Amino acid sequence: MGLLSGFEHCVRQAETLAPHTWFCIGGPAEYFAEPATVDELAALVRRLHENEIPTRLLGGGSNVLVRDEGVPGMVIRLSAPAFAQTSIQGRKITAGGGVKLGQLISTSVREGLAGLEALVGIPGTLGGALHGNAGSRAGDIGQWTCRATIMTRTGETIERGRDDLTFAYRESSLDELVILSGQFELDQEDSEELTKRMQKHWIVKKANQPLGHQSAGCIFKNPRGMSAGMLIDQAGLKGTRVGGAEVSDVHANFIVANEGASSQDVLRLIELVRSRVTERLGVDLETEIEVW
Ligand code: EPU
Repeated sequence: MGLLSGFEHCVRQAETLAPHTWFCIGGPAEYFAEPATVDELAALVRRLHENEIPTRLLGGGSNVLVRDEGVPGMVIRLSAPAFAQTSIQGRKITAGGGVKLGQLISTSVREGLAGLEALVGIPGTLGGALHGNAGSRAGDIGQWTCRATIMTRTGETIERGRDDLTFAYRESSLDELVILSGQFELDQEDSEELTKRMQKHWIVKKANQPLGHQSAGCIFKNPRGMSAGMLIDQAGLKGTRVGGAEVSDVHANFIVANEGASSQDVLRLIELVRSRVTERLGVDLETEIEVW
């Protein structure tokens, strides 16, 4: 590990990424790091930059498909407690990029802070949610975000206030290497009322989407004013299979990777769905998941 000497304690080679993703498929990362502190992360990022090693950040792995051949360079995961701190100041809640979005939602609901409960059921980490402006029809995370701390590819830490942040449909200006933390300004409300509202959102989600592992949220973005799931369904594609990959029967914008599925199966199925929807309905779909 010449280029990365001194980081042996937090870097592994040829780490299989499948168990770190919701699809549970895909090849290894050439290098994989789980730094323990922000300083260690900064030192590692600087070394990676000096040596021009391509670097990616993995959040909860719920919006990513790793190719079977794996990922060259470094994959970093913020699994250490240093990246999972949460604190509350009045109506503001600050949380580390490694915090699970679900945990942040439970904490805010318990504390009587309203807004994030509409995101219940969305998997992944806060960093991933901010990067892709995760949301539902009831709202997205960007609308509650007032601050973020990021780390650049050269290892510099920068604070961004509300005026430096832009969010759009499944898109944000937070595209630096690492999202260290986010701050959210929420509304004060009765915690019991909020819990009830969160439960309602949860019931709707559970009824309409295949929750759990072996899939990775919606595969395609919704074209303006339309639902990709409805289009795929209308094109008669529910249940369509390529190898072990299958268009979900519950919601057509989800792909389920059954036992033995490869990433290649999922990629072929994505292409098949895209071309059939274009052919049958004249709409071009764009993928929402990231393919590594
Ligand atoms: N529909 C079908 N067949 C299907 C799926 C949906 O006919 O297989 C119909 C539904 O009956 C409904 C309409 O399509 O009339 C819209 O469906 P839904 O409410 O499920 O919303 P969606 O547009 O398919 C979006 C987000 C989801 C989010 C839900 C609920 C995107 C790509 N999808 O789905 O987000 O959870 O609204 O708020 O924006 C994600 O982004 O990963 C994701 C899961």
